[in-house]
Amino acid sequence: MVSTLLTHIGELVTNDPAREGVLGQVADGALVIEGSRVAWVGPAAEAPDADERVDLGGRTVLPGFVDSHSHLVFAGDRSAEFEARMAGESYAAGGIRTTVAATRAATDEQLTSQVGRLVAEMRRQGTTTVEIKSGYGLSVRDEARSLAVARQFTEETTFLGAHVVPTGTTPEEYVDLVTGPMLEAAAPYARWVDAFCERGAFDVDQARAVLVAGAAVGLRGRLHANQLGPGPGVRLAAELGLAAVDHCTYLEDADVDALRDSGTIATLLPGVEFSTRQPYPDARRLLDAGVRVALASDCNPGSCFTSSLPFCIALAVREMGMTPAEAVWAATAGGAAALDRDDVGALVVGRRADLMVLDAPSHVHLAYRPGVPLVSGVWVGGRPT
Ligand code: NIG
Ligand code: FE
Repeated sequence: MVSTLLTHIGELVTNDPAREGVLGQVADGALVIEGSRVAWVGPAAEAPDADERVDLGGRTVLPGFVDSHSHLVFAGDRSAEFEARMAGESYAAGGIRTTVAATRAATDEQLTSQVGRLVAEMRRQGTTTVEIKSGYGLSVRDEARSLAVARQFTEETTFLGAHVVPTGTTPEEYVDLVTGPMLEAAAPYARWVDAFCERGAFDVDQARAVLVAGAAVGLRGRLHANQLGPGPGVRLAAELGLAAVDHCTYLEDADVDALRDSGTIATLLPGVEFSTRQPYPDARRLLDAGVRVALASDCNPGSCFTSSLPFCIALAVREMGMTPAEAVWAATAGGAAALDRDDVGALVVGRRADLMVLDAPSHVHLAYRPGVPLVSGVWVGGRPT
């Protein structure tokens, strides 16, 4: 097996809880990769020999971002909706139906090339693991093919048939379809099941029915909740012991307590608040209460069309009370926890060698230099991409 030494790393972010600080950094560090895995981590002065050697000249190395929430399988464009929003319109869940019409009309090839383009865009910005949801098909055929397309790019695929009720059906009929034939067609391509629990989408009983039906065929649950207003979704996620509940913009004290007690990750998606002009979620309140927080892009054509976790980190630090270290942890180890993955999100011996090189002296520059493309290299499974 070929070994590679990455050395003269000015700041090596490991996320190793056995090391000091939120990020377990090693100053003037080095890392050895064997095959696809991390084989050694420590100070450059103590690094062992390897077959190949890469001198990083003082740059920063971090675990690759784990983007645990995206909706990349879609067709069409909603820039006019964004433009209207910036002129004063408010965001509503119903806009999803515009994308559903365009997605149903697209060929498999068009959807595949769109997802490929967005995954490549994410990769260039440091994302090495991505979760991709369906949710713009909303028919048995279109949900199953959306997931089949997503599966070509990631194992972290999520069935989101319960995104919104499509036109031409009642909510009751549609929940029966989602929990019956649609779930059956989607399940072979999905690892997760999700629902949009929000006014204008699905209520808490409908969301529960979808999550329970998914669990019965082996899909683990995650949930969109408390994005547009307060509601019972976050408490449902905690009660069911879901891996993660996403958005968490409007929280009551009971929601925060339920998240802390259940260990369910709160995934915050600040690109959405940026692009919908809503108040940002209060990350500081969650962190201070002992809730684990992840950051993800929510890349989708409606509420937030960014693929950039560096941008989300900058927002989380500027607007949500997170320290740069907390935000970086949330976008790496936090994302991994939200996907229940113990092989990514940290650079410790045995984990996948998925990492990024930042052309900057520390992780702080991700927030300090917003909008600047600092990622100068991305390695996936031990190889540069
Ligand atoms: O996560 N909240 C629901 N779904 C997406 C938005 C989808 C859309 O507007 O197209 C979200 O924000
Ligand atoms: Fe979403």
